Amino acid sequence: MIRSEASVVRGSGVLPRSRSRVAAVAGALGGFALIAGITSGGAGASDPAKTVGPNACAECHKQEAEAWKGSHHFKTFNDMPRNPEANGIAQKMGIRRVKSESLCLNCHFTVQNVSGKDEPVAGISCESCHSGGKDWIKVHSAFSGKTAQTESKGEEQARWKLADTKGMIRPGSLYQLAKNCFGCHVVPHEELVNKGGHRAGSLFELVSWSQGEVRHNTWHSKGKDNVPASAARKRMLYLVGLGVELETALRAVGKSTVRKVYAFEMARRADAARRQLAAVAKAVPNVSEIGKMVELAHSAGLKLNNERALAAAADGVSKMLVGITERYDGTTMAGLDALIPGPDKFKGAARKAGAAN
Ligand code: HEC
Ligand code: HEC
Ligand code: HEC
Ligand code: HEC
Repeated sequence: MIRSEASVVRGSGVLPRSRSRVAAVAGALGGFALIAGITSGGAGASDPAKTVGPNACAECHKQEAEAWKGSHHFKTFNDMPRNPEANGIAQKMGIRRVKSESLCLNCHFTVQNVSGKDEPVAGISCESCHSGGKDWIKVHSAFSGKTAQTESKGEEQARWKLADTKGMIRPGSLYQLAKNCFGCHVVPHEELVNKGGHRAGSLFELVSWSQGEVRHNTWHSKGKDNVPASAARKRMLYLVGLGVELETALRAVGKSTVRKVYAFEMARRADAARRQLAAVAKAVPNVSEIGKMVELAHSAGLKLNNERALAAAADGVSKMLVGITERYDGTTMAGLDALIPGPDKFKGAARKAGAAN
């Protein structure tokens, strides 16, 4: 338990980065032993063999693609390799070209197998979040061989079920979607942070980070509006986001091997998420699972050499989150509204539906 960190999370939920705080966590994590070995790999990458690339999606999803083109996710493809900071990180990691190194590709690019060769084809794109489309692209859009008008309800349900089974991650699969965001944004990679000097992620919150430049809810409105998430949906995004942050950070602390900035940052993230979830539990006492999740998270110490306990806690958190997404849709969680960041905190501006580039 990191008592000296109490001040970090209180209030705004914004965690300032400062040396003294890192030092405070370092102190609290005292007693670390040095162990060698295991590092966690990058997450979020879509399987190159199953990736069809964003152009294939854009054939039908024109507006969604336009929104994506206005985001950092799109621009990183060209910008990152030219960024002096990127070359500095690459140098420290012993990497010559960031575009040919799987470590950087995992989180900054979409890799597609083209004629037997894995090639970066875009930045972070459709399939980084919705998963590689090869097996489901035809299924999801085919209206069971009929048309949108003639397909029966039962056929529609069977179609979505089949697409899900084939790996599609849809807006309704909130937990899976969030896992992808946090798998990249927490930057759960020890060597990259400690040796490469890559930032250990930033303060990522799912409502504010998904409702700005990333938003592309233009499909079901038939291109008329880029529809913001509803109040109920925002509550689910907020809660599930915090839970996945906690899960990801617990696993990352478990995989930490040395008493350096990565371990401190991941422990700080886990502790902050626990505290925020404790506040959430108070705000919606009717959702008893949240308090249990916080308890579970406290069952494992945020310290080195504790992988088994931390992984078990993370597994428990994961199970509870999946259960929450099955049992709730946010309508009974109005107590959260005061905690959820408003539009002034959204990351970047959402593209207007139908706008020219
Ligand atoms: C041939 C046209 C076509 C292509 C290509 C296509 N889609 Fe779709 N997509 C559709 C149609 C049609 C629907 C809506 C089906 C419905 O409403 O029942 C849809 C719906 C979706 C949805 C919303 C699902 C939901 O639950 O609301 C997502 C997400 C999606 N597509 C992602 C993708 C991605 C990612 C790709 C590329 C890998 C892609 N699509 C390629 C036609 C297409
Ligand atoms: C585990 C995922 C992950 C891996 C692996 C990764 N990055 Fe990043 N990187 C990120 C994320 C997420 C951000 C955005 C940080 C934020 O949230 O503000 C980022 C940001 C950056 C930035 C600063 C933002 C910018 O302007 O692009 C640079 C530079 C960078 N990464 C370089 C690299 C290099 C070089 C490699 C390979 C050696 C690499 N990254 C590997 C996830 C990753
Ligand atoms: C950074 C992750 C990410 C990327 C990249 C991404 N999506 Fe999405 N997509 C999401 C999320 C999250 C939602 C649900 C948003 C919400 O709840 O507000 C969504 C929703 C959708 C929907 C439903 C829209 C509606 O009207 O409700 C479609 C269709 C879709 N995405 C297609 C695409 C296509 C096509 C691309 C690439 C051009 C793409 N997405 C890129 C994460 C992503
Ligand atoms: C495959 C890894 C990956 C996934 C998955 C991913 N991101 Fe990102 N994201 C990045 C990287 C890398 C950057 C930094 C790009 C840059 O600026 O060079 C970034 C940047 C962003 C930015 C812009 C931040 C800024 O500096 O203004 C937002 C907002 C964002 N991501 C939201 C999301 C959301 C929401 C999701 C999930 C729905 C998501 N991301 C999923 C890797 C990822």
